[in-house]
Amino acid sequence: MSAHNIDSVLIENRKFKPNPNFVARARIRKQEFDALHKMAAEDYTGFWAKQARELLSWHRPFKQVLDDSRAPHFTWFADGSLNVSYNCLDRHLGSRANKNAIIFEGEKGDVRTLTYQQLTDEVSRFANALKAQGIRSGDRVVIYMPMIPEAVIAMQACARIGAIHSVVFGGFSSESLRDRINDAGARMVITADGGNRGGKIVELKAATDKALAGGCPSIDKVIVCQRTKHNIPMKAGRDIWWHDAIAKQNTDCPPVWVDAEHPLFLLYTSGSTGKPKGIQHSSAGYLLGAILTNLWVFDLRESDIFWCTADVGWITGHTYVAYGPLAAGGTLMMYEGAPTIPDAGRFWKMVQEHKVSIFYTAPTAIRALMKLGDSFPNKYDLSSLRLLGTVGEPINPEAWMWYHTVIGKEHCPIVDTWWQTETGSNMITPLPGVTATKPGSCTIPLPGIAADVVDEDGNSITTPNQGGYLVIKKPFPSQLRTIWGDDARYASTYYPKFGGKYYLAGDSARKDEDGYFWIMGRIDDVLNVSGHRLGTMEVESALVAHPKVAEAAVVGRPDDIKGEAIFAYVVLRGARPAGGVDAAITKELRDWVGEQIGAIAKPDDIRFADNLPKTRSGKIMRRLLRNIARGEDITSDTSTLENPDILLQLQGKV
Ligand code: WTA
Repeated sequence: MSAHNIDSVLIENRKFKPNPNFVARARIRKQEFDALHKMAAEDYTGFWAKQARELLSWHRPFKQVLDDSRAPHFTWFADGSLNVSYNCLDRHLGSRANKNAIIFEGEKGDVRTLTYQQLTDEVSRFANALKAQGIRSGDRVVIYMPMIPEAVIAMQACARIGAIHSVVFGGFSSESLRDRINDAGARMVITADGGNRGGKIVELKAATDKALAGGCPSIDKVIVCQRTKHNIPMKAGRDIWWHDAIAKQNTDCPPVWVDAEHPLFLLYTSGSTGKPKGIQHSSAGYLLGAILTNLWVFDLRESDIFWCTADVGWITGHTYVAYGPLAAGGTLMMYEGAPTIPDAGRFWKMVQEHKVSIFYTAPTAIRALMKLGDSFPNKYDLSSLRLLGTVGEPINPEAWMWYHTVIGKEHCPIVDTWWQTETGSNMITPLPGVTATKPGSCTIPLPGIAADVVDEDGNSITTPNQGGYLVIKKPFPSQLRTIWGDDARYASTYYPKFGGKYYLAGDSARKDEDGYFWIMGRIDDVLNVSGHRLGTMEVESALVAHPKVAEAAVVGRPDDIKGEAIFAYVVLRGARPAGGVDAAITKELRDWVGEQIGAIAKPDDIRFADNLPKTRSGKIMRRLLRNIARGEDITSDTSTLENPDILLQLQGKV
């Protein structure tokens, strides 16, 4: 673990009190907030049991709350049973049957709505289709889809019959898809002919075919949703059109009641090794976090239109698109395409047309749209907005202020939500009717979330603004249960220190004099590129898999828009290109990484050297490489370098 992110940085003093008009009708006000904190402090498990009883519909009520006897493997509500799809759909049919559950807009402008009744019918039909193809409770199903309602239908249908889904982001390559299929031992892939994004077709079926051709022995069937309607080959006996699969199915599919701890889904995310890990979430604990934060943090109400722009391929798209808003009985907005099609006003035009009231996106998107100018948002009526949110990476105060003034017109609270794939739902975040915000800070932990910043020995850091490890000191219902198939890696990754008592988030943070949390960056070798997690090792493994590459080291450097950019140092087999630059091989390697992982992992810079700088024990001097990539002064001892000339090569000077 490196300490490069544990130095305290910038101090931001502006503070924005909750808007009184918002406070007047907020679900959680100071009084409720204090009561929740008090209850969580006095009776932690009682607090969670109460939330779980009030917010979830149980088939068999639980008696047991937290079981920590096999720590760090925790269970919650384990003797209860329920069904997640029932909680998201059926239970609303009494009063919300004709309410819109989903408002969808395609990149080309096609709009489709589904009421709760229609969505329940579609989910049930598709769930019956899955059963007809032999899918049973506990089977893994990979979903590789565009951002269309069928993606949510597929996820909900799996949940309905107890199948465990693993959604793979449509921007990942066939190689990444194959790895995830094989790691999970999935029986089926649900995909589409293609999706529309950035004015082009994303070739999802072609990528699926390629993944399966490389060897996925566990896959029996592929269901293909028709979206783009371009010509694609269908393999007889394996591939079935979605519309054919549901043609004979009826809309009655009783939910399969599963135990609270039954895995709802796997979602692969990057860590510090070359291969992503399958984060395994539970049914009840996960859903509780999802519904509770949709109500508390997003203040979701009957009349809201909630638009979270995340793709369902990420955790944010699980918790704030596919599950949370539906479990809370809300209306969600879903968009298929890119934010700049046909121009940078697309999001704001959609806010106006669909009267979006809650908008949740990533700092990268805010920065990119900010750069394109105020004239785009200023063209549209954004008065329907009442709450804004950000997630995925630290937001710089400048982007925060732009979001606040130009989009929120200074009256919308901004919730900067810190959380992770592993935590399942928001953890440290303002509550819009309670917490005064400071641009760049995710503020304070939610009631029931024992977040803290500790030193090397696990002691709370009490000196304001001193950096340390971000930890969660008590188990919480929505946390990951394990890494699929690898309990040992789960324990060693998340509970490696502090006597195995605290969940180690992998971020460094500091608390200011008001106790507000400021996230400072990762302490492991994970990059945050445009709010997406990528392991440096993952990109390195992809690079060294190229026949021309002998060695590679990857570090991050700050980027104005993406937050972090990928900087790769490469040693080629054979001679180093003259002057360390070669456009052709650079392009070849970038495309290669795109094929191995996905476009988001393509290095922004590649620099060629004869060697990588190593310590005497043979470890790559990453701090040195980071200093160089960031144009900083070199703080490492370089006197032991075998070949001092490589310093100039690494710096791009010779
Ligand atoms: C970072 C995304 C600062 C952090 C939900 C975390 C943030 C990683 C914030 C998880 C935030 C997420 N402020 N940093 N509000 N939210 N992060 O798993 O480094 O894709 O550990 O989950 O993103 O990324 P993941």
